[in-house]
Amino acid sequence: MTDTAALRQEALSAIEASATSPALEEQRVAWLGKKGKLTEVLKTLGQASPEERKTLGAALNQIKSEIETAIDTKKNALFVAELNARLASEKIDVTLPAQHIPAGRIHPVTQVIEEITAIFAELGFSVCEGPDIEDDNHNFTALNIPENHPARAMHDTFYLKGSEGKTLLRTHTSPVQIRAMRNSKPPFRCIAPGNTYRCDSDITHTPMFHQVEGFVIDKNIHMGHLKGCLIEFLKAFFEIDDVPVRFRPSFFPFTEPSAEVDIGCSRSREEIKIGAGDDWLEILGCGMVHPNVLKNCGIDPNEWQGFAFGMGVERLAMLKYGIPDLRTFFDADVRWLKHYGFETFNIPSLLTGL
Ligand code: PHE
Repeated sequence: MTDTAALRQEALSAIEASATSPALEEQRVAWLGKKGKLTEVLKTLGQASPEERKTLGAALNQIKSEIETAIDTKKNALFVAELNARLASEKIDVTLPAQHIPAGRIHPVTQVIEEITAIFAELGFSVCEGPDIEDDNHNFTALNIPENHPARAMHDTFYLKGSEGKTLLRTHTSPVQIRAMRNSKPPFRCIAPGNTYRCDSDITHTPMFHQVEGFVIDKNIHMGHLKGCLIEFLKAFFEIDDVPVRFRPSFFPFTEPSAEVDIGCSRSREEIKIGAGDDWLEILGCGMVHPNVLKNCGIDPNEWQGFAFGMGVERLAMLKYGIPDLRTFFDADVRWLKHYGFETFNIPSLLTGL
């Protein structure tokens, strides 16, 4: 006769001792499977006397349901334990400092554009964009530079072949002003960083360079706002409170009056330093937006006025970081980048410093 109490005890303790889900599954098969121990005993019931079959059958069925319950309970417990173990082992603390700082560096042009953007963002400017390949209207005509105007020759324009002088690589970021003003309604407070192109190459000029355009269109805007905004910017950018700045009268067809801004510096063969010395370096052009430009964008100049400026990113980078030679920016020399580049985690912000 089967010792049901021993069978029950053996099954329940084997189930309880299963340490993993696969081990538990093995136990399920070992007891309840087609050839499982309990199944085998149940098969012998037919040979028992009717009297015995009754009590033994009831006992075995009771054990079977106890085993099933034990397996279910264990299954749930193992699931929770295994999930917790996995969660613990796969945990990532995203606040820990990086262990492997990547070897790559951020190019000074990228860094300086991000610094400029961070400062103007603080002043309430948003970022606008326009295409590198422009048409004659956006780059010149709408900016109050009509055909045959001598200013066109000054720009050393790259024209696209076969476009009969209609399609070109933008010579400045000012066409973004036109695009923004035609696409939306004033007021505007935007900057537009980007690539610009001129057919010019010597110590201080490269055929491709970068500018950041800025423009503000609102009511009652005057030259004082322009000066205040740019001086605030230059102080923040160079992190010098009494940075020497000079506004020089100048001419741009799209602004009236116009000025160029120089910054005080000293130059030696190896280095260029701002804030000291008796030299000046021109870093940006600016002025009050010409009424014709506003009219060309469908804006009433009697109601709206504004100022605009365009600055050379490489020049600002050279000045701020003491980089003596413009052409090295585009040599793609990894040693140069390692020296003048920035760590990837060094994201400019006015709060943490530029
Ligand atoms: N677009 C001018 C240039 O490239 C700079 C500028 C922009 C001047 C906006 C005045 C106003 O030289």
